Amino acid sequence: MKGIILHGGHGTRLRPLTHTGPKQLLPIANKPMSEYCLESLRNAGITDIAVIIGGIGSNKVQEYYGDGKDFGVKLSYITQDFPKGIAHAVRLCKDFVGKEKFVVFLGDNIIQKDINEYVNDFVNSNDAASILLCEVDNPSQFGIAEIKNEKIIKLIEKPKNPKTNLAVTGIYFLTPIIFDLIDNLEPSWRNEFEIVDALQMLLDINKKIRYYMITDFWKDTGTPEDILQANKIILENMKSCSFGTNDDTVVIEGNVVIGEGTIIKNGSKIIGPVIIGKNCIVSDNSYIGPNTSVGDNTHLSYCTVKNSIIMSDCIIDCNIKIKNSIISSNSKISKIESNNEEKVFLLGEGTKINL
Ligand code: TTP
Repeated sequence: MKGIILHGGHGTRLRPLTHTGPKQLLPIANKPMSEYCLESLRNAGITDIAVIIGGIGSNKVQEYYGDGKDFGVKLSYITQDFPKGIAHAVRLCKDFVGKEKFVVFLGDNIIQKDINEYVNDFVNSNDAASILLCEVDNPSQFGIAEIKNEKIIKLIEKPKNPKTNLAVTGIYFLTPIIFDLIDNLEPSWRNEFEIVDALQMLLDINKKIRYYMITDFWKDTGTPEDILQANKIILENMKSCSFGTNDDTVVIEGNVVIGEGTIIKNGSKIIGPVIIGKNCIVSDNSYIGPNTSVGDNTHLSYCTVKNSIIMSDCIIDCNIKIKNSIISSNSKISKIESNNEEKVFLLGEGTKINL
């Protein structure tokens, strides 16, 4: 069986974070979100994987994953010239897939449970496709399944008046028959070739689509709030371990992971769940956590950071309280010598600040 990871798309809802690279490389608990997809596939024994890339900074995907050897898989890259939809991206993989069954993983979908059981069932079945459904609070934002007598009878993309709250998650188990159907697809009202429409075509020709309900964590991390929530859940499930050093003025509580070369000192408090990368310095009564990730080489002093992601190579060295924030690599927040309330900014396009 082969695997496909979708690493293209616009990522508009995550601007400005996506101005410099694809959203699927944004870190969750200090690891790119697409790496969780790659691990799910690899752990299910799927090691021949195509990665669909396209858009701003797509070269960074190849730089990070290379040929896949370091991740225990073999990767091929396929370029999508413009994000014309998930079905369009899947269609680009026809030659790569050949006659095999395959799994498509949207690179911004994170699932807690491993997919081994679904893969094994699918390999041993005659089903034309298999999908994972999850109950959601906002069904009009998703592809939605209607079910009768435990059979999928209808699939519809982002319905205005959804009949169920069963969202089609971004992990699809498919057979090559889907390629011919995609060739006959019309673009949707949002001008994309929708995978849910292609799956509906399977139903229209009386093919069976098996489904499973996901009852534990699944997240489509399309917005900053989704990313922070995924970060929290992944951190909650990590085991504490420390390769760093701290002096005896420091308090460390709860589930905390600290990387090699990191120094925590001078009365700082780390309240888990928290991950701090390699070669960081946390000092001068900083208070970090809960639900916070700090990337490699970041220096934090005098600050409070809660429920946030601070990426690598950042400096925050002033008495500031930060929460529910995502701060990209190489950012700096510091104090200026001034007697008044004036602030100094150097902001990239689309930056958001709440004072
Ligand atoms: P979406 O989140 O639906 O779309 P998007 O990434 O363009 O983001 P936004 O809506 O914020 O602009 O995409 C789902 C996944 O599929 C995501 O991992 C990106 C990927 N994708 C492609 O690889 N190619 C495509 O043509 C599209 C539309 C999405």
